[in-house]
Amino acid sequence: MSTEPSTGSVLSARELTRHYQISRGLFKPHATVRALNGVSFELASGETLAVVGESGCGKSTLARALTLIEEPTSGSLQIAGQEVAGADKAQRKQLRRDVQMVFQNPYASLNPRQKIGDQLAEPLVINTGLSRTERRERVQAMMQQVGLRPEHYQRYPHMFSGGQRQRIALARAMMLNPKVLIADEPTSALDVSIQAQVLNLFMDLQEQFNAGYVFISHDLAVVRHVADKVLVMYFGSPMEMGPAELIYTRPLHPYTQVLLAATPSIRPDSTKPKIKVSGELPNPLDPPTGCVFHTRCPHATERCSSEVPAFRPLDDRLVACHYAEEVGSAPQTASVA
Ligand SMILES: Nc1ncnc2c1ncn2[C@@H]1O[C@H](COP(=O)(O)OP(=O)(O)OP(=O)(O)O)[C@@H](O)[C@H]1O
Ligand SMILES: [Mg+2]
Repeated sequence: MSTEPSTGSVLSARELTRHYQISRGLFKPHATVRALNGVSFELASGETLAVVGESGCGKSTLARALTLIEEPTSGSLQIAGQEVAGADKAQRKQLRRDVQMVFQNPYASLNPRQKIGDQLAEPLVINTGLSRTERRERVQAMMQQVGLRPEHYQRYPHMFSGGQRQRIALARAMMLNPKVLIADEPTSALDVSIQAQVLNLFMDLQEQFNAGYVFISHDLAVVRHVADKVLVMYFGSPMEMGPAELIYTRPLHPYTQVLLAATPSIRPDSTKPKIKVSGELPNPLDPPTGCVFHTRCPHATERCSSEVPAFRPLDDRLVACHYAEEVGSAPQTASVA
């Protein structure tokens, strides 16, 4: 797998980095939280990249950079071949239209005082010259596509269930036929019974609109059936990235193995002891030296605490581990208290 920019990419991230300066109190120097460190990937139309990792690993920070909500500290981003950093105001407006977002909590992104039909029509009012009747037709067609009924047009957000609200958020994101959809934990707040339906809806709409998806989740099981590619992140850095099938069946990074072992529905047959990581996530203000995962890694050696592993190609994916060859071929029974 290559991370070189390709002309077919609808989204191309190069070494995206975002650091936050935080105040530690009066007279003390600011501290830096390295929320995102050098994330690169390519995404094609109709393709889904799943971004997975524990809480605090930088997933939402990445989402905010990709949707132009926040500027990266360094690195670059291209949307449909257009460099974001060099875009003028009009181009930025277009880019914001091209990349839409669905959040974990749809209620927070809907206006409680506006009828659903009007909220769905809003992007059309701002961005198209369609007449009121045409807008209404488009909204009703979209509502039908996401499984809402015509009478829902006149209702307010509080009158819907969580699953329905996420359908509305998805409908609104797709109204202008975006090139890219960034979904940040879109099913995490939903009942398990509803999650699969909403996931299926995401995939149906992707087939229809051919958008590239970046699908963010802390749960590898959730993204298993939607991901074409998987990017595993830890503490702001990419650990492993490759075709979904490979990542799920032959993970080479110890952290990917840990995540998979912690997801029982993926390995229901496994009677082996679960791989556990010892210790807590490191303190963001005091990041580990060398490999960021070494403080919790069952395979870590002296070298891991001093030398940052390159994110290197191996066995058809990229992996950031000095010992990926050995880790990948070892039986996955490591258990660490
Ligand atoms: N505006 C900010 N100012 C300072 N630190 C921030 C800011 N936003 C995020 N961070 C820090 O950056 C790191 C990554 O946060 P982020 O929200 O991207 O993680 P996440 O992977 O989305 O986590 P979760 O799964 O809990 O949503 C965390 O240590 C967080 O505290
Ligand atoms: Mg988040």
